[in-house]
Amino acid sequence: MKQAIEYVKNQIGQKPDVAVVLGSGLGSFGDQLLDKVIIPYEDIPGYPQTTVVGHSGQLSFGTIGGKIVLSAQGRFHYYEGHDMETIVKPIKLFNGLSVSHLIITNSAGSLIDAYPPGTIMGLNGHMDCTYRANEIDPIIVNDSKYHDESFLNIFAQVAKTLNISVEQGCYCWTMGPAYETPAEVQHCKTLGGQAVGMSTVPEIQAAAKLGISTLAISLLTNYAAGISKTELTHDEVIETANQTENTFVKLLTGIIQGLKN
Ligand code: HPA
Repeated sequence: MKQAIEYVKNQIGQKPDVAVVLGSGLGSFGDQLLDKVIIPYEDIPGYPQTTVVGHSGQLSFGTIGGKIVLSAQGRFHYYEGHDMETIVKPIKLFNGLSVSHLIITNSAGSLIDAYPPGTIMGLNGHMDCTYRANEIDPIIVNDSKYHDESFLNIFAQVAKTLNISVEQGCYCWTMGPAYETPAEVQHCKTLGGQAVGMSTVPEIQAAAKLGISTLAISLLTNYAAGISKTELTHDEVIETANQTENTFVKLLTGIIQGLKN
């Protein structure tokens, strides 16, 4: 990581106030930064590459709302065959650049009728539902170390001010790359989850370990499999993300503006 950190440091020349990981179909936030510096992942020494449609694979650095922002357009998933260490390289990079605040975004499936597609949900908890180590059911992790309470308050306050309706809930990390079966979806729901997706939890865990204050936000792009009768496709995920993107970008900008560094 040392070389990667040095390389990016030289490219951007300033310490970012906040870093943002942009999920599937949410990359346009990075395009809206001012005085942009674009750094393709392939130019960063020792950095992994993205393979998923809807994830472009570059860092976009610039300013918005008076803050200096480093955003990652494109993330790494466990299901792509990366090990855990590789998935969290962006977080280690941010840490190497002395970033103190991190916003992680993703698109996810909704587990409950009350959160229809298009719902923006701040994470107040998460569960690792990958069952990689054993068959023991996870419990909700909602410590402020992982889901910074004051950051969540800013999220709620800014949304209110901007008249954007938001929810909060628990995100369940599943392995992917296939969408969950209806039975898996029901199980996550029984455990207490409100959303399900294939990313974010490793990043939250890494950030907590490094003492980075983190806010994670899901855009619920669809009802998870079996919650509604309609067939679930990646196109639906991208389509809902695109429809909600402007609102999402507005909210992100407001939150960043409201940060007190
Ligand atoms: N499941 C898992 N990941 C997702 C979903 C889903 O329903 N929607 C968007 N990402």
